[in-house]
Amino acid sequence: MAARCDILVLDFGGQYAHLIQRRLKDLGVKAELARSDVSPGEVTRRGARGIVLSGGPASTLDERTPPMDAGVLRIGIPVLGICYGHQLIARELGGRVTTGVAAEYGRTRVRVQKGSTILRDVRPSFRVWMSHADTVASPPRGFVPVARSEDGVIAAMEDGKRRIFGLQFHPEVSHTEFGKEILSSFAFDVCGCRRGWEPGDFIGDKVREIKDSVGGGRVLCAVSGGVDSTTAAVLVGRAVGDRLKCLFVDHGLLRKGEAAAVMELLKDRLGLDVAHVDASERFMKALKGTKDPEEKRLAIGSEFAAVFEEFSRKEGPFEWLAQGTLYPDVIESGRSGGPASKIKSHHNVGGLPGGLRLKVLEPFRELYKDQVREIASALGLSGGFTSRHPFPGTGLAVRVIGEVTPDKLRICRESSAVFEEELQRAGLHDRLWQAFAVVGDDKVVGVTGDSRTHGHLVTLRAVRSSDGMTAEWARLPAALLDRVSRRITNEVAGVAMVSYAISNKPPSTIEPQ
Ligand code: XMP
Repeated sequence: MAARCDILVLDFGGQYAHLIQRRLKDLGVKAELARSDVSPGEVTRRGARGIVLSGGPASTLDERTPPMDAGVLRIGIPVLGICYGHQLIARELGGRVTTGVAAEYGRTRVRVQKGSTILRDVRPSFRVWMSHADTVASPPRGFVPVARSEDGVIAAMEDGKRRIFGLQFHPEVSHTEFGKEILSSFAFDVCGCRRGWEPGDFIGDKVREIKDSVGGGRVLCAVSGGVDSTTAAVLVGRAVGDRLKCLFVDHGLLRKGEAAAVMELLKDRLGLDVAHVDASERFMKALKGTKDPEEKRLAIGSEFAAVFEEFSRKEGPFEWLAQGTLYPDVIESGRSGGPASKIKSHHNVGGLPGGLRLKVLEPFRELYKDQVREIASALGLSGGFTSRHPFPGTGLAVRVIGEVTPDKLRICRESSAVFEEELQRAGLHDRLWQAFAVVGDDKVVGVTGDSRTHGHLVTLRAVRSSDGMTAEWARLPAALLDRVSRRITNEVAGVAMVSYAISNKPPSTIEPQ
């Protein structure tokens, strides 16, 4: 029999089912994921006090939608439908759904109209994130609309008697105000859950689990100096001691001065047993002529794997490969095992080549970046380390649009360094999730002195986020952007214009590729 849980989150294929589960876990609720067509019997067997129907990319108006057993709406336990889940409630219980206004994608405001149970801890008007074109035109019998968007769309509806609730917006994303309060009201006030899960237990549990699985084996850990892989190395080191060997692969796609700084951190400050392999030439060769973003990602993933394999043959044998893979890497690569679609293949999620007979240890596979940062602090990794901006394993290759050439790499690296330096100077760097420069093949005409130049267009991107799943472009001061633009066009040869990216995630992603 499956373990008892408090809330089951039914996965209808969006990027967000796992995020809902995580938010509930953060609140101390025992929450688990379930297939969209979980049966009422299974829900009861698992002891759920309530269920959440997640968002998803499908439309309830489509002919084919993810399968569902509508009997779960009639068990008698509370139900919260989010976005697609909200529309499903309307469809299954006799309401009407229509295709609404695309203008309401992303950030919008809603106004609470009536006393509501799950909206009781919010302000009368608050900011939310919407991510669906369909809306509920008329709620099923027994439901009352309790909030509407600026355009009059039903943003929340509820049937207090049956304890069924629908939200057109996403309470689980960090850009929705009062999302935590709304999920708390549902879990604690409506479902009667009790707090149980403690993030602090994670380290102890994982160290025990790694010890048990690894036994006397040796572990190879791929480290980049970033928060995820470095924290993974320190955690695994706690479990296996000197049977851990770290490998730092310099693929030539690192930021300015990064290789030396990473070695100093890993070796001198953290005392890890780490080997440094300069593989920049072979990565550049593997990327030559490749323009397509997915092909570049896959080429980098397999090159990494080939370097691990060679190292493992030379320095092994190792039985395990440890990686700092996070949940968003898994979900965006379409590898969650659920129905979420592939957004981009993260370099470390593609699987290992057949020749590399290593078992994989991924202690953070269920976690998000901010949780790993907390674990890093608890492990004593501090001193500016935990506030490092995320840097993808694919490195600057995903910030150079089109083919990765030495010249575009130089422009991207130097421009990013100027941008980061100015942000540090202004005291803004650590308040951003990420900030970097992007360069492609677009060239524009410029004028320096009296002569015409023809140089690259560099785009700056800076975002705020708490977990990388959603992000907002940062409203940086105009004077700072002006300074960065002047410095880049003056100091980085071959740049004729600088622009600033003002798109959120969604609909954009954070990295341009
Ligand atoms: P996107 O661009 O999908 O990125 O909005 C979300 C977060 O993930 C990082 N990212 C990666 N990290 N390997 C990684 O380790 C990758 O292949 C990769 N691709 C994106 C990105 O920097 C952002 O913080």
